[in-house]
Amino acid sequence: MGQTLTEKILSDHLVDGELETGEEIGIEIDQVLTQDTTGTLVWLQFEALDLDEVQTEIAAQYCDHQTYQFDFKNTDDHRFLRSAAGTFGAHFSRPGNGICHNVHKENFAAPGKTMLGSDSHTPTPGGLGELAIGAGGLDVSVAMGGGPYYIEMPEVVNVRLEGELPEWSTAKDVALEMLRRLTVKGGVGKIFEYTGPGVENLTVPERTTITNLGTELGATTSIFPTDEETRDYLERQSRGEDFVDIGPDEDASYDDEIVVDMSEVEPLVAKPSMPDNVVPVREVAGESVEQVIIGSCTNGGYEDILPTAKMLEGREIDMQTEMIVAPGSKQASEILAREGWTAELMAAGVNFSEATCGACIGIGHVPASDSVSVRTFNRNFEGRSGIEDDSVFLASPEVAAAAAIKGELVDPRDLADELGDLEAPGVELPDQYDGSKADLIAPDESVDDGLVKGPNIGDVPLKDELEADLSGPNLLQMEDNITTDHIIPATQDILMYRSNVPKLSEFTLSRVDDTFAQRALDSDGGFLVAGENYGQGSSREHAALCPMFLGIEGVFAQSFARIHKANLFNFGLIPLTIDADTYERLEQGDDLAIVDDVAAGVRSGQEEFAVDVNGGEWEFTAHLDASEREREILADGGKLSHTKKLAED
Ligand code: F3S
Repeated sequence: MGQTLTEKILSDHLVDGELETGEEIGIEIDQVLTQDTTGTLVWLQFEALDLDEVQTEIAAQYCDHQTYQFDFKNTDDHRFLRSAAGTFGAHFSRPGNGICHNVHKENFAAPGKTMLGSDSHTPTPGGLGELAIGAGGLDVSVAMGGGPYYIEMPEVVNVRLEGELPEWSTAKDVALEMLRRLTVKGGVGKIFEYTGPGVENLTVPERTTITNLGTELGATTSIFPTDEETRDYLERQSRGEDFVDIGPDEDASYDDEIVVDMSEVEPLVAKPSMPDNVVPVREVAGESVEQVIIGSCTNGGYEDILPTAKMLEGREIDMQTEMIVAPGSKQASEILAREGWTAELMAAGVNFSEATCGACIGIGHVPASDSVSVRTFNRNFEGRSGIEDDSVFLASPEVAAAAAIKGELVDPRDLADELGDLEAPGVELPDQYDGSKADLIAPDESVDDGLVKGPNIGDVPLKDELEADLSGPNLLQMEDNITTDHIIPATQDILMYRSNVPKLSEFTLSRVDDTFAQRALDSDGGFLVAGENYGQGSSREHAALCPMFLGIEGVFAQSFARIHKANLFNFGLIPLTIDADTYERLEQGDDLAIVDDVAAGVRSGQEEFAVDVNGGEWEFTAHLDASEREREILADGGKLSHTKKLAED
């Protein structure tokens, strides 16, 4: 039996386990990327692991999420990140040089390699045949130190592309069509592998738009095979030597198959406020549009902005509409400027932003209240634009530019009929991507002068080994569906303390009980109790790290969200499940004591633990569901302590 492309890359990198769907495997990582909001913790953890040099082939630190300096904290973070890159041997991309996925694609992504990144759209370089996966910062630190990355082997789904895109339909519409069919949950536990005769009809930048949006399907990653288009792209980036001919075997067997006939894909939009709320543009035509933004890691490339510039050449945007171009990278800005397209866009009424995430996370260009904004981004979750009742449509650059010309949503085919002289711009790559690399500092160019930590950058706390006796009060009795946002709110005024765990911890669970943090510190240990689905939401590791800092020993819940449960293990907090009757009977303030020897039980595979309530008043049973590896991590006091211990042995 032949292998899929995913299986080929994974078997080349496999260091633990077997490639059976659902089984835990450990893989070697070739490249890592991190960005400024997650990177500070990545490097603080790297330091705490006593690692002194990056072991992966490539490690790259980008500054893209918070490049505007509201006060000293972001600037301090960037200075720290620069010093960490210099000290430990990573590439450093200055603030303003571009979004991590765009700059990584241009400079480092390579076919057949594995990549781990502490950002959810890490799968973007899958369009170049790289197997790229998003993960928590601690996993990235460990991988950067040469440790394997562990993951349950996902299902591999064959997405067979047929035909060719018609005029005015784009790769963004292919990705939106996938979201329309599969929804935002359709890719959970899956890798989408694109195959079929349609692949050769897409350039690499179009492929990376599709792999970028695979994240919105919930997929582990998405990947394309390589071909002459890949070789051509790498040569235009002056990296022809990175080309490798790689694809699935003819008789590869997949867990599932989806067929997309691209010749039938029409211009689509995702309506507010979910990326899978997809309809043909014609269904919402006539909706008046106040703001249009071209950019983000999805459609911020030269190849995305050029069609817009061609459509706007010699025209002006509608009087009632504002239009912003936020290039995904400085390389894109620079080539557009050299070719004269920046001036054309400016003359049409467009304003330029620096190459940053910016508006994609509500930093700048916040839409007016009760107005429609059309954006080429990948997410339109309610409130993400920076205003609670926003109305953000996701679309291709062509649909967005058409909206700017008309001042309302319009199918570009209809606008072309109406105007008579508007031609479909198509896709065009520059002869050579010859932007300067002045803002990308290689490890051997940077200064190795040690870490520079401003007052907002603290150390990462370490936890001791799990003890035999675990007891303390029930510090907070919570309901069902407590999210990571409840545990650590993600608002700008709180997240600016992301590198300062003691300060950030003051906000732990403040949305549930604003006395919690102080009570936890005063109590010298204790537990959290919750209903179903505790820790749902993002992969934010601070949601486990901050409770750990406050001395929380473990969480009793009816059930846990998968990623948060992994984070609890990573930070040494024991996640124990309880039944509904126990949950109902427990009260905040109860004194809880695990009767069994916890350390020995966790190490030996014990699944049930007896818990005494209020010194013998009553007793309940709690369950620990954990793999052998997770048990060792927990018993050693979390992944940092565990990894340090392994290194010492
Ligand atoms: Fe940045 Fe938005 Fe992409 S935050 S990494 S542009 S999804």
